[in-house]
Amino acid sequence: MEIKTVMVIGSGLMGAGIAQVAAQAGYNVIMNDVQMELIDKGYNTIAKLLEGRVRKEKISSAERDTILGRILKSVEPEAAADADFIIEAAFENLDIKKSIFQKQDNICHEEVIFASNTSSIPITTLAAATKRPDRVIGMHFFSPVPVMRLVEVIPALKTSERTVKTTEDIAAKMGKETVRVKDVPGFLVNRANAAFRAECFKCLLEGVASLEDIDKAIKLGLNHPMGPFELADFVGTEIGYNVFKTLYEGYKDPKFAPPLILEKLVVSGDLGRKTGKGWYDYTSGEKKPRTDLKI
Ligand SMILES: NC(=O)c1ccc[n+]([C@@H]2O[C@H](COP(=O)([O-])OP(=O)(O)OC[C@H]3O[C@@H](n4cnc5c(N)ncnc54)[C@H](O)[C@@H]3O)[C@@H](O)[C@H]2O)c1
Repeated sequence: MEIKTVMVIGSGLMGAGIAQVAAQAGYNVIMNDVQMELIDKGYNTIAKLLEGRVRKEKISSAERDTILGRILKSVEPEAAADADFIIEAAFENLDIKKSIFQKQDNICHEEVIFASNTSSIPITTLAAATKRPDRVIGMHFFSPVPVMRLVEVIPALKTSERTVKTTEDIAAKMGKETVRVKDVPGFLVNRANAAFRAECFKCLLEGVASLEDIDKAIKLGLNHPMGPFELADFVGTEIGYNVFKTLYEGYKDPKFAPPLILEKLVVSGDLGRKTGKGWYDYTSGEKKPRTDLKI
């Protein structure tokens, strides 16, 4: 089946990014969410980012209009009847994702593939909730989606080779590189990164270096664009915390035990840039070290 129309369910941070790269790749895109205001917010983000590309002369204004013209907005799950491929990017909640796929099972043509952008929910659990376990797959994008080049492609237990190939082809058309990863807790990148971050937390707690110096050392010594604490604030401290929880529950390996100091930050509501405070203080509009934390 030729894939012409991609429906993206959830128009938040990831969904909007996925809708953008899908439209840029030439697909017709249906953006969906529970409220039109949320879809509009995602759509406006795309329009703003494309406007920036026009200003930098990366694309023409005619190209921008063509890309935006490929996007249809709909709050109706039934809009999926016109879709050839579904990418789910709703909240990270098993019941929500299961109910989305179960609803789509009755709306979509039986050939349609269901891809989930979940960070932590087993793809096999989602596949088992549908009548099409051979056509369910993980398609794990990284934030910000228009910038980050990797997509982890995660076959579930019964995912067909055809489903995997189709998903890889779509990701390639979106300009992404793919790696095939087994359906294991944390998949590959989050698992490897958590082990690395856990070591950085240990260094902080042992006083090996200050928080700011750990960030500086990792950037300059390993050529990472952001240090682990800067990155945690950028992504959201609660997201990193939840990754540790998933990995710890999945592997029972003490190296993945959620660091207590991170838990304290999360329960205090210091979720990073979006709340103004995380490992750093952003309330002045600039990134400043925090002096109030009892680490
Ligand atoms: N944020 C990241 O860095 C990141 C990276 C990779 C994967 N993910 C995964 O991507 C998914 C989305 O994350 P996000 O950061 O974009 O979240 P977000 O909160 O920004 O967006 C989620 C959107 O889904 C919508 N939604 C909830 N239930 C829905 C339903 N039943 N139907 C349609 N829309 C619904 C919400 O209204 C919201 O707009 C999650 O599974 C997350 O784990 C996130």
